[in-house]
Amino acid sequence: MTSAFADVSTVPVTDLLSLAGRRAVVTGGAQGLGKAIAVRLAEAGADVLIGDVNEDRARAAAAEIAERFPVRAAGVVMDVTDSGSVRSAAAAAAEEFGGIDIWVNNAGIFPSVPVLETPDSTWDQVFAVNARGVFNGSREAARHMTGANRGGIIINIASTAGFTGTAPGLSAYVGSKHAVRGMTKQMALEFAPLGIRVLGVAPTFVPTEGNMAAAAAQPPAESGKAMAVMTNSLIGRIGTPDDIARVVLFCASDLSTIMTGSTLLADAGQTI
Ligand SMILES: NC(=O)c1ccc[n+]([C@@H]2O[C@H](COP(=O)([O-])OP(=O)(O)OC[C@H]3O[C@@H](n4cnc5c(N)ncnc54)[C@H](O)[C@@H]3O)[C@@H](O)[C@H]2O)c1
Repeated sequence: MTSAFADVSTVPVTDLLSLAGRRAVVTGGAQGLGKAIAVRLAEAGADVLIGDVNEDRARAAAAEIAERFPVRAAGVVMDVTDSGSVRSAAAAAAEEFGGIDIWVNNAGIFPSVPVLETPDSTWDQVFAVNARGVFNGSREAARHMTGANRGGIIINIASTAGFTGTAPGLSAYVGSKHAVRGMTKQMALEFAPLGIRVLGVAPTFVPTEGNMAAAAAQPPAESGKAMAVMTNSLIGRIGTPDDIARVVLFCASDLSTIMTGSTLLADAGQTI
């Protein structure tokens, strides 16, 4: 069995960073962090399938990648809350590319509602996307990786909200991101014998289409208070989607073969 844990001590650094010949799936990759991640994986040489509930945007992002880089790229509809939909998208990746080596569980939602006003449906939807979606994606990725006997790497996009509390209104979100960290540890244990690494990346606040729209939908006073909490940074600026994508690229590459089960804080020092 090929393992993502192979000793690569004598491999040149450019080869370690190369993802040539690897096949990647990015959930929720039609925009925001997922799209930036898909772009960097493709630049490093990976074929990339973007799965997203927004099929048109997934296809558009894939077309943009195929135009920029000499890799195969595809966009398909995928709802991470639905295991059948995840299975179909994974099958499409395996058919299009011949297998799956890298799976990024990135799709996530972040509705902001104070606890006292949160309906059951909001809690359920946040956990369905952010927690069950990670479970569904990881299970499907591991099935393909194990079936091909090649090992692989699964990367879960958590959040600093998986380490600390954050702005009011995000209780379900914070709970779901703590769950992602827990699954990252437990799946790393279970998948290590299969040659599969599992890592988390926990971004700080980074402006994206999704969270800018969410902020715009809130009363200005509320979103101002939330921003003040979330944009706390030690580096003199807030992060960009590509700041996060480069950390994911490190995780996906053989530079990080010693690592599994941990969640890397990509947080501009926010949680110190
Ligand atoms: N942007 C940030 O500040 C930040 C910080 C920490 C963590 N994160 C995490 O990063 C991830 C991406 O966030 P973003 O800011 O890029 O969000 P975004 O809203 O800009 O993009 C999310 C993408 O996921 C897709 N999506 C939503 N539900 C889906 C589902 N059920 N199945 C498949 N796709 C679905 C959306 O269509 C969209 O394309 C999320 O998990 C989020 O929690 C973001």
